[in-house]
Amino acid sequence: MEESGDLLLFLGRFHPLFLHLPIGFLVMAVLLEFVSKKEKYRALRPAVGFTLFIGAISALVAAILGLMLARDGGYSEDLLGIHQWLGIALVIFAFGTWWLQRQYEEKGTDKLKKAYTGSLVLMMVFLGGAGHYGGSLTHGSNYLTQNMPNGLRALVGLERSKGPKLITNLQEAEVFGDIVHPILEMRCNSCHNASKKKGDLQMHTVQAMQRGGESGAAFVAGDPAQSLLLQRIHLPETDDEHMPPKGKTQLTDQQVALLEWWISEGAPFDKKVAEVNVDGSIDEILQTLVDPNANKSEVEILLASEPPVPSAEKIKAFRDQGVMIKTLAANSNWLQVAIDKKLPVEDLLAGLAESFPEQITWLDLKESAISDQGLAPVGKLKNLTKLRLEKTPISDSGMDHLKGLTYLEFLNIYGSQVGDQGIAKLSDLRNLRSLYAWETRVTAAGANQLEGQLAKLTVNLGFEVNVVDSLTVEVLPVGNKTP
Ligand code: HEC
Repeated sequence: MEESGDLLLFLGRFHPLFLHLPIGFLVMAVLLEFVSKKEKYRALRPAVGFTLFIGAISALVAAILGLMLARDGGYSEDLLGIHQWLGIALVIFAFGTWWLQRQYEEKGTDKLKKAYTGSLVLMMVFLGGAGHYGGSLTHGSNYLTQNMPNGLRALVGLERSKGPKLITNLQEAEVFGDIVHPILEMRCNSCHNASKKKGDLQMHTVQAMQRGGESGAAFVAGDPAQSLLLQRIHLPETDDEHMPPKGKTQLTDQQVALLEWWISEGAPFDKKVAEVNVDGSIDEILQTLVDPNANKSEVEILLASEPPVPSAEKIKAFRDQGVMIKTLAANSNWLQVAIDKKLPVEDLLAGLAESFPEQITWLDLKESAISDQGLAPVGKLKNLTKLRLEKTPISDSGMDHLKGLTYLEFLNIYGSQVGDQGIAKLSDLRNLRSLYAWETRVTAAGANQLEGQLAKLTVNLGFEVNVVDSLTVEVLPVGNKTP
């Protein structure tokens, strides 16, 4: 009994290979039936019956091999049942169609022609159905649609493809749902899913994971070494029990490390990254899963968005008064504005801030006569990222108006009257990167203090202070600016 069981299974495994014959022959028969209607291909007519016959015979053999393979187990009962019955119907209809074709050739009645054509159509329906369900059995039921573009998915009413999604906020990411499950989906679940449970193990849902397989639990929370899943993964690739089986795409070292990390952290199904331990090497791997957009600065994200379209009329009105207004890029709504020193800067600034409070992102007031009070409208330009105030009479109190400019990245106050107290007011500007403050009252100590408060900031004082020892301070001039 044992012997013959193995032989049946051995033969059964030829089913996936052999089934291509009936597909080829039966499709060919239909093709011949159609083309032989044309005068040119008349001579092919006698081949229709023959092709149908060998198609039917090969379908019968494929079906028998299929029944042997079904003993292998590990397939979803429902899908297998449908596939089996469609296969059997196909065999019956293939022989039936062959017989009807012969009858029709002999007698040529209209009735027989209709019966033959109907049978031919039904045979193709069963062929397509059996093929489709067979494919779902081997590759999982979403195999065909897995890589369907989202536009097409929407059209046929499928859910959007999830894929291995990129993480935007690592600390908030779910260890299982966002990190571990996508790995299993990608590399294991073609064989361990709802329709196919090799080794009686399914891994497509949390419940299934917890249920385990024919050898029991798939993992032991907190103990990677005792976890079957990892034991199987760590077996040499040539071992029959190695997972994923030889020939399939293997896990990367990083993916194995993440599975190990999840299990050693207690295999949580509901914890976020912030709630478990993350050591250096895991953190490095996790960073590779993070959406590159997530590392963009607030300013880059801001400028990648678009403010409302600025009024063309108003732009023209300011240009007519001599103000330089340009968009940041060709099709952008962001504005860069420069007010020439000869113009009535304070009036113009008030008007500009009124007209384009969201759009102005670069503002150049250099060498103008702007006063501390006159700078007040700048406070309304909440999306300002660059501000040039060099060689203006601005002093400490002018800095009050910049306190709320969260996106300010670049500020030039070279040659102004601002001192340490003034720049101390900028301590909330978390995006500030460059502060140009040479020839001001800002001291190295004041600059250092602000740099200590703002992680991204470099204050440029126009010279480097090189402390040789506690008594000597060496001043190195930079460029042509003599301190
Ligand atoms: C190509 C199909 C295939 C893929 C992909 C696959 N497996 Fe398997 N898996 C099997 C088969 C077949 C068995 C049953 C035979 C055996 O135990 O080796 C099995 C059995 C197992 C078992 C033992 C279950 C038990 O209780 O005995 C575990 C654990 C397992 N697989 C884990 C995995 C993991 C983890 C992955 C992904 C990294 C994976 N498998 C990918 C086919 C696959």
